[in-house]
Amino acid sequence: MRIRVRPARRLSGRVAVPGDKSISHRAALFGALASGRTEITGFLEGEDCLATLKAVRALGAEVTRKGPGHYLVDGAGVNGLSEPDNVIDCGNSGTSARLLVGVLAGQPFWTVLTGDDSLRSRPMDRVAEPLRRMGATVVGRREGSRLPLAVRGARPLTALTYASPVASAQVKTALLLAGLWADGPVTVREPSQSRDHTERMLGGFGARLTVGSEGITLTPGAPLSGQPVAVPGDISSAAFFLVAAAAAPDAEVTVTQVGTNPTRTGVLEALGAMGAQIESVTGSQAAAEPVADLVVRAAALRGTEIGGALVPRLIDEVPILAVAACLAEGPTEIRDAAELRVKESDRIRAVASELGRLGARITERPDGLRIEGGARLRGAVVQSGGDHRMAMALVVAGLLADGETVVEDTECIATSFPGFLNAVNDLAGTQAARAEA
Ligand code: S3P
Repeated sequence: MRIRVRPARRLSGRVAVPGDKSISHRAALFGALASGRTEITGFLEGEDCLATLKAVRALGAEVTRKGPGHYLVDGAGVNGLSEPDNVIDCGNSGTSARLLVGVLAGQPFWTVLTGDDSLRSRPMDRVAEPLRRMGATVVGRREGSRLPLAVRGARPLTALTYASPVASAQVKTALLLAGLWADGPVTVREPSQSRDHTERMLGGFGARLTVGSEGITLTPGAPLSGQPVAVPGDISSAAFFLVAAAAAPDAEVTVTQVGTNPTRTGVLEALGAMGAQIESVTGSQAAAEPVADLVVRAAALRGTEIGGALVPRLIDEVPILAVAACLAEGPTEIRDAAELRVKESDRIRAVASELGRLGARITERPDGLRIEGGARLRGAVVQSGGDHRMAMALVVAGLLADGETVVEDTECIATSFPGFLNAVNDLAGTQAARAEA
């Protein structure tokens, strides 16, 4: 599938984005590990989170769909998972794969995990290596660092204090989950704080979790019990509209009920530093997470610097922030973001090459990008590379470019935002973006 995009004359209105991807994965997985029922509303029915639902079913949890985004997970209990009778396919989803490896490290049976071409090329040693230290057997391609991986857990696992070399919520969560079957506390330290949805949610299910200066510690032994989880809208999906509205002439857009957890709001800070006008209104709370409507109005954007501890707080938003940076006055420097090279695609290379085709002046760095700014983007044929966030960033770039843009290979948008195209066209008030077979 490809999407043909014409420039949007004006973007206005209200838009709801689907449920948060990270929180949806965790709700399904923690629900499967808990005793009793977890009722999830606002669950993201994108391919990634559906892969996690399928996996927990294969491991013995009961999953019932009640309606759009509404699921009941009847958990197997911490010690109740059972050996799946086939390979578990995580599709494109790094979160499914890495969180599951953590859970499987504590299961007394064999499981084989695999994924699509992209996921099979992504590093798994960041979770496999510390889990081996805890006593799990994790074997697979490339010395056990790439899917397919076969995992045989040990019970109990050995307690561990681990200083992670990367700020990764997937690594942190995998190890804390493995801690449920350890013979003592598991502590994870990270170089800078990654998203903390696990810390917020797992405690609510009953886990003994503490956050201190020495790291995040899970002390095993507490039972988990099912909880209702209302998933807020995904700020990573909202980001496409925040940038589109900030950069389009005369726009005013409200993105409703967005999760505004401070470990995820780096995109608001970066856009604020660029001069964007974003207002956060009607604050509330869902699933132990802050939620707000975000109102964004067109503004003159200027270049900025993004690096250090801000990077993990906006890591998934770099492709769309790069679009804003192309149109801003003056240069933008993005540093300390080498992790982008091991996402669904090498996003440093992809941003430089595809926005380059639209006329942006971008230099690739080993750990980031320099974007000159002040560009007039011109429509062209561009490739998503099968990466959902690249595909959506390029559609937004097309709305803001002169002439027609064709984004190739756009099925991947269903990974995280199945209704994206309709939402774009609603805000544009016309068929600005059209899917073609
Ligand atoms: C996620 C963590 C991040 C993020 C991914 C979702 C999570 O990855 O990029 O989209 O739900 O824990 P890392 O943990 O690899 O940084």
